[in-house]
Amino acid sequence: MDETRVVSPIENENERTHENRLRPRDFTEYIGQTKVVQNIEVMVESAKIRKQAMDHALLSGPPGLGKTSLAMIVANALGSELHVISGPAIERKGDLAAILTNLQPRDVLFIDEIHRMHISVEEILYSAMEDYRLDIVIGQGPAARTMQIEIAPFTLIGATTRSGLLSNPLRDRFMANLHFDFYKPSELARIVENNAAKLGIKIEDEARDMIASCSRGTPRIANRVLRRVRDFSLVRGKDVICPNEVSTSLGLMDIDSEGLDRMDRKILSVIQDYYGGGPVGIEALCATLSEDRTTIEDVFEPYLLKEGFILRTPRGREISEKAKEHLVKFTEL
Ligand SMILES: Nc1ncnc2c1ncn2[C@@H]1O[C@H](COP(=O)(O)OP(=O)(O)O)[C@@H](O)[C@H]1O
Ligand SMILES: [Mg+2]
Repeated sequence: MDETRVVSPIENENERTHENRLRPRDFTEYIGQTKVVQNIEVMVESAKIRKQAMDHALLSGPPGLGKTSLAMIVANALGSELHVISGPAIERKGDLAAILTNLQPRDVLFIDEIHRMHISVEEILYSAMEDYRLDIVIGQGPAARTMQIEIAPFTLIGATTRSGLLSNPLRDRFMANLHFDFYKPSELARIVENNAAKLGIKIEDEARDMIASCSRGTPRIANRVLRRVRDFSLVRGKDVICPNEVSTSLGLMDIDSEGLDRMDRKILSVIQDYYGGGPVGIEALCATLSEDRTTIEDVFEPYLLKEGFILRTPRGREISEKAKEHLVKFTEL
């Protein structure tokens, strides 16, 4: 996939450093996701009253919606240290065992993309989460024995874009499974406003709302569009972001008013032109687009489905009337 795509919800290399500056620092700066926040705040407060580790929580939802940010806020509110690892990056059991045995009491371990952890590594987590204990098998065959190692009471926060892919034993060990939804334009508008201030640039209300409504319900995308528009305005010698600069830079980035870019429109027009509007099976669609299935399903489809551009039927994907009208308006010349 094109890593430089402006409306991709996946963070790119350059953003890993920039993003920290725009992250909400505490619950008061964290906009929206009210249900998730209310649930996790109770868990935090209860842990503080009990003076014990917070219960384990699973954060699930599409990329760019604030899972990592929330984990940081939680660790901070608990006064605990946060350790961040990525599920698929841990290759051996021993690597995870080393991380777990180094935890201090009440530390928070954040495992990103937890559904992509190797199953043999994941198994270490079962007793760790349940009893703060590692069961390590030493040797093989009849001589094998299990050694138990105590670890500090800790909190596991798992993040996943596909909670359906989590194994049952792992899922069952989380006290709470908190689901993130796409943000409303009004919430994104507040995020854009706060982040413009953090970047030290003024923005007109209408310009702010335009960015909010083309950002696919995703704060990470809103931040990215905001930074691009900021650059564009600065280069034009403006110190306030105006609607004019927003529409010109969206045009340059090939993003339309609904936040769809060239790739989204390509998906829609392939269903329309090659498959007569559908239904088309996901495999055939991905083959025609030369994209892999997970990219289409995790990155592109959720927003197109949510906004009703694509319909999912038992026989495959179809495009909607809304999408057809959209294509007529925005098809590249
Ligand atoms: N609820 C929120 N309030 C304010 N900003 C947010 C919120 N959620 C996400 N963001 C912004 O979006 C960026 C990406 O969020 P992140 O936590 O990295 O998403 P995820 O881990 O789900 O992919 C953050 O750096 C932050 O600027
Ligand atoms: Mg993240």
